[in-house]
Amino acid sequence: MMILHWSAIAAWAIAAIISVEVIRDLYHALAHVWPPLTRLHNWHHRVFRPDLTPNSALIYRQAQWYNDVPESCVMIAFSLALWGLAWCLTPEVAWGCGAGVLYSLVFLLSAMARGMGWAWAHDLTDVTHLPGPFQTPPSRWWVNRPYHWRHHFENQNAYFCSTLTVVDQLMGTALSLKGKTIAVTGASGTLGQALLGQLQANGAKVIALTSGHQPIELNGHEIPSQRWQVGEEAALAETFANVDILVINHGINVHGDRSPDAIEQSYQVNAFSAWRLMEVFLSTVDGDRDRVRKELWVNTSEAEVNPAFSPLYELSKRTLGDLVTLRRLDSPCIIRKLILGPFKSNLNPVGVMDSDRVAAKIVKRAQGDVRNIIVTINPITWVLHPLKELTVSLYFRWLTRPYPVSEICANQDISSKL
Ligand SMILES: NC(=O)c1ccc[n+]([C@@H]2O[C@H](COP(=O)([O-])OP(=O)(O)OC[C@H]3O[C@@H](n4cnc5c(N)ncnc54)[C@H](OP(=O)(O)O)[C@@H]3O)[C@@H](O)[C@H]2O)c1
Repeated sequence: MMILHWSAIAAWAIAAIISVEVIRDLYHALAHVWPPLTRLHNWHHRVFRPDLTPNSALIYRQAQWYNDVPESCVMIAFSLALWGLAWCLTPEVAWGCGAGVLYSLVFLLSAMARGMGWAWAHDLTDVTHLPGPFQTPPSRWWVNRPYHWRHHFENQNAYFCSTLTVVDQLMGTALSLKGKTIAVTGASGTLGQALLGQLQANGAKVIALTSGHQPIELNGHEIPSQRWQVGEEAALAETFANVDILVINHGINVHGDRSPDAIEQSYQVNAFSAWRLMEVFLSTVDGDRDRVRKELWVNTSEAEVNPAFSPLYELSKRTLGDLVTLRRLDSPCIIRKLILGPFKSNLNPVGVMDSDRVAAKIVKRAQGDVRNIIVTINPITWVLHPLKELTVSLYFRWLTRPYPVSEICANQDISSKL
């Protein structure tokens, strides 16, 4: 009975803290669309230079009084209202909600301390605005400096969250594609075309990477494209230097063929060329801006965990899936996997899903910052893939040595290593 009582108090406390964080993020999003709040919030956007040093000590202090203090007051007001509601519902355990009030009070006091110009308050409490090089890519669940930097310097209409990233994930503002240069391999294929269309519709500048000779068109217009071939991945290094997101999407299915040529082709096209493209792309991640902005999306297929009724397709796609899992451990930028079920295409004429809908879902989930994007009608994949990804990733982490990010990026001559 006692355990139940304390669990209920703890549940209210956690709910109160999470909900004030949600209110804070919604208030922030509102401040970008409602002019009375925008006027106050603009002070916050005037404060920082791209290296996150403040423009002026005076503007920094004023931004605290005009933006952070009102924001904290809204948090306090909401947490008091929630406490009142809890009091009506479960009076014996409602005081757990006091945690939300206390939490919001800490924000108010630290905003006031920063407004007074006390440097220690900035260093101790304004952690997403501290200068210094970024050590990691934007994180998935907690807002780190690289995550928040994008709100100031990439797209102010995205990346609204302050501590937890959940509100951005739900609003689809955890990744902005607007203005980003996105290159897609397998561009003339069914999914390649659908992805290019969806990405362009979401504001991206698209580049088609194709092994064919035909110009690539979208909506009747030719789009920028570049020819490449398996084995000549290093020739794309110059292009990749100006690409924000590379989508590795090309692939083949040799079906029932088990000849040495089929083995060679399956591994070269589906696994090794994709791995080489990954390495060339990662070698172009140079500096903080790239670490924050660049991403790799790799189409591995649900054949990673399920039969695709084509052994060489499964073998090569599993190899690719494992290589991505291994490479993610030291990646200087975000790497997403696309784990797709059967859709109708040149490669799979009997696929049941529609490629345009698959592409739309991929883009939507990426905007919610999903790192393993599963689009399938097969429920087993939803269970098996996360389990496989976790266990294989832990296994690789325990049995291999870290490879320093500095070795990967910054002007490596990658062609000599592939
Ligand atoms: N369809 C499915 O059910 C399904 C399910 C899960 C995953 N996938 C994966 O989704 C991706 C796209 O497949 P899709 O279904 O859209 O098939 P698709 O229409 O056949 O497109 C595949 C594209 O890959 C490129 N490609 C083929 N052979 C190549 C080679 N030797 N070297 C370089 N590029 C080559 C070609 O594009 P270019 O000529 O423009 O280079 C081709 O159009 C593949 O990776 C596939 O494995 C498909």
